[in-house]
Amino acid sequence: MTTASVTTEISSLTVTKIGGRIGAEIGGVRLGGDLSKETVAEIRAALLAHKVVFFRGQDHLDEAAHEAFAQLLGAPVAHPTVPSADGRYALGIDSHHGARANQWHTDVTFVPAYPAFSILRAVTIPPYGGNTLWANTATAYAGLPEPLRALADSLRALHSNEYDYAALKPDALPEALAQYREVFTSTSFLTEHPVVRVHPETGERTLLLGNFVQRIAGLTGRDSRALLDLFQAHIESPENTVRWQWRAGDVAIWDNRATQHYGVDDSDEHERTLRRVTVDGDVPVGPDGTPSRLISPETVPAPAFGIASGASTAV
Ligand SMILES: [Fe+2]
Repeated sequence: MTTASVTTEISSLTVTKIGGRIGAEIGGVRLGGDLSKETVAEIRAALLAHKVVFFRGQDHLDEAAHEAFAQLLGAPVAHPTVPSADGRYALGIDSHHGARANQWHTDVTFVPAYPAFSILRAVTIPPYGGNTLWANTATAYAGLPEPLRALADSLRALHSNEYDYAALKPDALPEALAQYREVFTSTSFLTEHPVVRVHPETGERTLLLGNFVQRIAGLTGRDSRALLDLFQAHIESPENTVRWQWRAGDVAIWDNRATQHYGVDDSDEHERTLRRVTVDGDVPVGPDGTPSRLISPETVPAPAFGIASGASTAV
């Protein structure tokens, strides 16, 4: 029997696995825009291998330093519809405003070239609860029995930012919900993605689903729901996930092309504030080489600042 070593030392960085299939904590680095090429390459390699990596004690970061660090991984992109917290790229995730992310999802999959990486920084953390879970969509695919892998390979799904907000948070005040919905869906997007994406950097096949999926193309609503539930159960299986208990100053970076995540809504009325900067991705392709396509609108409109997620390479 072989046992993989738990901690890998690469130069001054330590990479310590915290789950069998997903997640590692990186130590020995102070994040910012001034990291060496070698350090950035080591972080990127750990991120591609472990899908989500965590850093403790990054309290020195502010919005500008957070964005400067993001630039070392790629081009920061703005959310297509929600204005940022700092007028640039830092999206506010605030428990007292808007919808909570208590559904399994991959960020911004309602556009074709959705972000490659998300970098989330904890500013204010509640005294209990408010953890985030991530699931590995590459191991979820690899673990399917062969007939289900073949079925998934052949499917395409329609993703939209129009979904049932009341079902997501039935106890939200109708006015607050209506306000958030109006901003989030100020442009209504519909994108067709392959259900299986070939990862552009690792070559792994990943399941591309999550809560922006409306239905599987060409199927009735009932058949579509049954298949989505089946594949999603493999993604959400506890062995396929990692759970992070936040402290203020923590940073999590995930490969948004190989994960789903879920923000647990269990800290009652306590404040929970995080900042997210996303890095541009490319247009997914399925196992047969067919790319994702934007069905509506005709192009991704420009946000108030910078370029929108998915706009730079949308087809
Ligand atoms: Fe998210």
